Amino acid sequence: MPWYPDDWIDEVTASCDIVDVIREYVVLKPSGRGYFGLCPFHNEKTASFHVSPEKQLYHCFGCGEGGNVISFIMAMERLDFVEALHFLAEKAGIPIPEQKDTGRQKVSTVSEDIKEELYDINRECAGYYHKMLLSDQGRPALEYLRSRGLNMGVIKAFGLGYAPDDWESALRLLKSKGYDESKILAAGIAVENKEKGRVYDRFRNRIMFPIIDMRGRVTGFGGRVMDDSLPKYLNTSDSPVFNKSTTLYGINRTKKVRPLEFLIIVEGYMDVIALHRFGFPQAVASLGTSLTMEQAKLMRRLASEVYIAYDGDTAGQAATLRGLDILKEAGCKVRVMQFPQGMDPDEVLARYGPEYFKKLMAQSFPLIGYKFEMLKSKYDLSTQSGGMDACKEGCEILAKVDNEIEREVYIPQLEAITGIRQEAIRAQIKKIRSANEQNNLKRNISGNNRNTRDKKSLKILHSSQTKAEMYLINLMAQGETAAAKVVEGLEDISPEGSLLNETADIVKGLLERGREVNGAQILSHMQDEAKAKKLIEIFNIEMEYDNIDNFISDCLDMVAVGILESKRQNIQNEITRMDQEGISDPDKYRMLLKQLKDINAEIKFRQTRKEGSS
Ligand code: UTP
Ligand code: MN
Repeated sequence: MPWYPDDWIDEVTASCDIVDVIREYVVLKPSGRGYFGLCPFHNEKTASFHVSPEKQLYHCFGCGEGGNVISFIMAMERLDFVEALHFLAEKAGIPIPEQKDTGRQKVSTVSEDIKEELYDINRECAGYYHKMLLSDQGRPALEYLRSRGLNMGVIKAFGLGYAPDDWESALRLLKSKGYDESKILAAGIAVENKEKGRVYDRFRNRIMFPIIDMRGRVTGFGGRVMDDSLPKYLNTSDSPVFNKSTTLYGINRTKKVRPLEFLIIVEGYMDVIALHRFGFPQAVASLGTSLTMEQAKLMRRLASEVYIAYDGDTAGQAATLRGLDILKEAGCKVRVMQFPQGMDPDEVLARYGPEYFKKLMAQSFPLIGYKFEMLKSKYDLSTQSGGMDACKEGCEILAKVDNEIEREVYIPQLEAITGIRQEAIRAQIKKIRSANEQNNLKRNISGNNRNTRDKKSLKILHSSQTKAEMYLINLMAQGETAAAKVVEGLEDISPEGSLLNETADIVKGLLERGREVNGAQILSHMQDEAKAKKLIEIFNIEMEYDNIDNFISDCLDMVAVGILESKRQNIQNEITRMDQEGISDPDKYRMLLKQLKDINAEIKFRQTRKEGSS
């Protein structure tokens, strides 16, 4: 991701008033200190979508969506963080800074101007291919598409085209429009054979599928042969504007679907087109590669539920299993569809029609259900050992489910599949889970991952501390004065690696630059989406206190005590260990005792101060 100066992000956020921006999408009626309207993120009849000009935040009391002007544009225009910034900057007439190598992050060296030119080349070229499809030369290609059930409407909607059987037709056209050969090469329309010193068209005698991004820009192409020759499909190679692992074919057309409750991920170009044709505009395809985390996250941003609709062959099933885990990790609710042996969605629709497809969607399996289904075909369940092996694997699957209620739902199913009694299954899961826990603990104690362990155990042990952390984050969003107090107080405590700390760093930066400190400003510097979501939740917490200064110092004490307590625990463990193993280093032992005493004193101080003040 490119990196922009904080000042520039501040300027963009400050120049786009949230009320003005949201007004372009939602009818807002003034009410109290803010505005109410119908929420654009869920269907509703009563206005529960609130916009606060003061805080520069929006929040829906119905569905819980909320955020600042950047997250609003991300959600409405389906853009990522940087794209949303660009969108707003353009709107406000603020120039986008050139990317310099700051050393802070790897930055693409290709300037925005060059990228714009590559997009132009691609668009120009897509238009040319489309025109060729409708010309005499393209007749066989058009015939082929017709034979696969596509009418003119679909062909136009997807901008399909034909690359003539010629080594230089696209090159010639683009050069005649004034584009440099080097740019045409960079866009991947032409390729160079260095040995022969020849430059020629990459796509020849192929049906062309332009690949279009969320913002309607043509980023690349897929090209299909019309016979059995190989490769069947040729894709644009990665370019400054095309990255296969972040691209989803058909994504541009999902923008029109609102609310977008689910997406359907398929393997092929033709599957996407068939699905759209039969009334499923939620379909997208990864381009012949297995699904990447980036693609999964993109999907998660657009819709919470994803149907996997991969081909019904063995390759498709393997891809399904990989895709499942990736989508799950990205936070999607996943459902797996199964098609008759060897068929892909395009063939299913052509043969059985959309109603049947809907039925298959309704019969789709959730994650665990699908994995259990796989057990049935993997093991011979008529034998005792087959049942036991299947049960072992089933227990491993369930042990990964953290939610006990969810586990309980599936235990009877595993019993029904394997014939092994529920009590035995439960015992086995318990065994696996405690072994996993032990392993994690060992790994954590041996050094790595200390932060995650601290965070995790603190969360469980000190929920009041977690609350105090959230209050402090919320307090920092209440203006410069409160923010400065929190930041200063945290300096003595330094809660490492927490959201609180990260937020405090952002706030410190804002204060140093003399900026306004509010929720919106903080959010615009939190680039991690999950964390930004969490912040939005925290900003919406209602807090009650009499005196803000006392409340801040109480919260600070609470957080400090939590940290001190976990430090104390570590020291105590060390002391116990030395007691048991013999004190080989008496100096160290004395030092630990001293530290223990100091920590106890500080905990006591922080605790009594709190009692004294309230
Ligand atoms: P399929 O072979 O399943 O193609 O490859 P398809 O989409 O069903 O196409 P038709 O129905 O035969 O016309 C699935 C996807 O894998 C990628 C393409 O993205 C294709 O849509 N692929 C396939 C390639 O990139 N290169 C290839 O040579 C083959
Ligand atoms: Mn197909």
